[in-house]
Parts: sequence; structure tokens; C-alpha cells
Amino acid sequence: MAQPADHHFDVIVVGGGAIGLSTGYHLGKRKAKTLVLEQFNFKNQLGSSAGVSRQYRIPYPEEYMVQMALDAQPYWDELQTLTPKTLLDKVGTLWFGDPSVHSTEGNIAEAEQALKALSVPYTSLTAKEIESQYHFRNLPDTYTGLFQADGASIDFRATIETLYQACERDPYTTLHEESPVTAIGQDGKLFNVTTPKGVFTSEKLVLVPGPYIDSVINLLGFTIEATYWNMSSAYFKKTDPKIQYPTWFVFQNAIGSNGNQFYGFPGVVWDHPEYIRVAPDFVIDPLTSPEQRTLVPNPKELAYTSEWVSEHMTGLDPTPYFTSTCLIALSKIANKELLIDFAPPYVPNHHNIVVYATGWAAKFTPFLGKILTELALDGHSTFDISPFKLGYNYFKAI
Ligand code: BEZ
Repeated sequence: MAQPADHHFDVIVVGGGAIGLSTGYHLGKRKAKTLVLEQFNFKNQLGSSAGVSRQYRIPYPEEYMVQMALDAQPYWDELQTLTPKTLLDKVGTLWFGDPSVHSTEGNIAEAEQALKALSVPYTSLTAKEIESQYHFRNLPDTYTGLFQADGASIDFRATIETLYQACERDPYTTLHEESPVTAIGQDGKLFNVTTPKGVFTSEKLVLVPGPYIDSVINLLGFTIEATYWNMSSAYFKKTDPKIQYPTWFVFQNAIGSNGNQFYGFPGVVWDHPEYIRVAPDFVIDPLTSPEQRTLVPNPKELAYTSEWVSEHMTGLDPTPYFTSTCLIALSKIANKELLIDFAPPYVPNHHNIVVYATGWAAKFTPFLGKILTELALDGHSTFDISPFKLGYNYFKAI
């Protein structure tokens, strides 16, 4: 059935978090008539875009990820021109810990190799140097580290607000909230996307609903292998107002239920400025679906974090004053953190359905929107997405 003109779009983006808004922004720049659908409200705290800070970092164990972080930089510079707020507070990235540990973030020695291969400057550090230069303490002598100066704390709230306002201003972009997608039909080359606000049509879809990915791709008959983490975070009051940390991550072996990987941020003006955010990069109870999530941080994860702060950080009161949670989908497939691909070939018009799912992508926000836009409008991206492609045997039919 023909839809009224205001219900027809060149591209419908499903998911209005940071990546969906970035895609809306880049599609608008290409003058594609775009609808961004958000199931809750824009700027909500219920998905992967929750919270107000993230880490921008270049160290990764894989060269293609280092390249992606480098390639993202000009897109951050471009986004910065749209707001007077500083989006990246460039305090640097400190990675340190047990050099033999391979964690979800990789391994320090492998990251050094990848940085060297791409001529990215960094400094190698001993445990004593990490303690004397970065305020950590009681580190085992065997720990090593690296400091990379381009790392930053991202003002993620300002990033999302900037993208939201850019989409709102753009005559090509329409934003609809409280619009969960309940059905996706196909009529020849046209997708019919059903929401409580009506049925919208387009020839292209970009699916970026964060941890709610399955609820959308299941409507097209496929699923992905993912686990879901309800990630906790805590804020610790500075006892020394002058103390400042870079963004950091510590690699350590798990001890029982203590996953023992932690990461943290500097004090920043946009987020409880008297406090420092430190968080566990593990969950004690991974979820099998986003519906199992509560907004309550796991008390044991917080206790392990407090203990680490107490034993290894200086200038902080180790009581968590504020806490927050963030829900993320993580791919179960080894070495496939970010999945960027078209829908599998058994889905009709699969080349007109672009999917981004799983992994920690906030640091790529402005760039990923550009990549997804190119895939939707051109059928390919100038950035090589082959390491992120799943192959249809990984997208399971249901
Ligand atoms: C990241 O930079 O990708 C990251 C940092 C800390 C925790 C999880 C992910």
C-alpha cells in the first residue's frame, strides 16, 4: 500500500543512540532523506549510549583497530566544529598491568607491536615509572605499561547532544522517539517498517539498536551470537583536589569471581568534577538477553572496584559515592568485537540492509556514522570493513 510522502524515506535508521544519530547526521550531509527511529526517548540511559564519559584510545592489539582509531580522528575534529564544548579531553591513554594477560581489550605487548607497525608514538613504562608518574601504587614489579598521548576522555553526553542537534537542524533528517519497530515487511524493493507512530517505507535500512539488536534483526529472520553485559561504574571522591589521572586500563588475571580488569578516567568538568570514575571491565553475571538487565550495579563488582582503588590508587576515598550502569552486547565470536556488515544473503534485499552490532564503539562515533552511511548509499565504504564482516554463517537464521 502506498504511504504518504512524509512516511517515505531514502534511509530508515533503527536505533537513536550515539551511532544512530551519527549515521543520521552523515546521511543528512549526503542529502539522503532519513528517518531515525528510537524505541525509547533520545538521549536515554537504557542502552549502550548511557553515561556521560567514554575513552578514546589508539592502542589495540590489532593493527586494523589502531588504523580505525587513527582514521576516526578527523571526524572527531569535524564534530568539534559544531559545538563550543570540548568533546575530547586529551589526557592520554595509560595501559598497564601483567604483560602476560590477554583480556577483552587485548594484551599490552601486542598493542605495542600494532602501534609500532603504524608508527604511532607511545612511551613504554616500568611499574615504578607508572607509580611515580601516574599516582598508582603497590603495583607488582613485573607490571609494565605504555602511555599514548592522543588518548582522551570523551564527553559522551555532549557528543550525543551535538549529533542530536545537528540531526534536528538538518532538513533531510527526521527524528522519531517512542517508536519501537514491531515489524519489517518487504514489498518489492521497499521496506515497510511498522512502529506505533505508523508504517514508514524506505529502500535502505541501517540497523544500529545497540544491545537491542536481536529484537530488530529477528524481525528479518536472523540473529547474532552475543552475550550482554550490564556494566557497573563508580565515582570516588578526590581527597587531593589536584590529583589527576589519564584514561587508563589495568590488565590482570582474574581471581575467582573477581574479573580483576579495571579502567578509569580523569576528573572532568562535565561529570561530577570532584570525583574520579573507576569501573570494572568484567561482569560476574553475563546476561543472555537485554530483558534480564536491571539498572542496579552488581554490589560485588563495586566492592572489587573499591578494593582496587583502596590498594592501588592515591588521592581518592575508596567509597563509591555515585554509581551507574550501561548495557552492552558483546559478540561471542573470537576476534570479532565490532560487527559491521550487510544482512545475510538469505534475507531479501540484503545489500540494502546495513548492520552494526556489538562491541565498544563510542570512540568511533563520528566515524562509524560515516562508514554506515557509505555502506547504505554506495554499497561499500572507503574504510576497509573486511575485518568486521561476519560472513553469513555467523548470522544465524531463525
Ligand atoms: C574501550 O576502550 O574499548 C574500553 C575501555 C574500558 C572498558 C571497556 C572498553
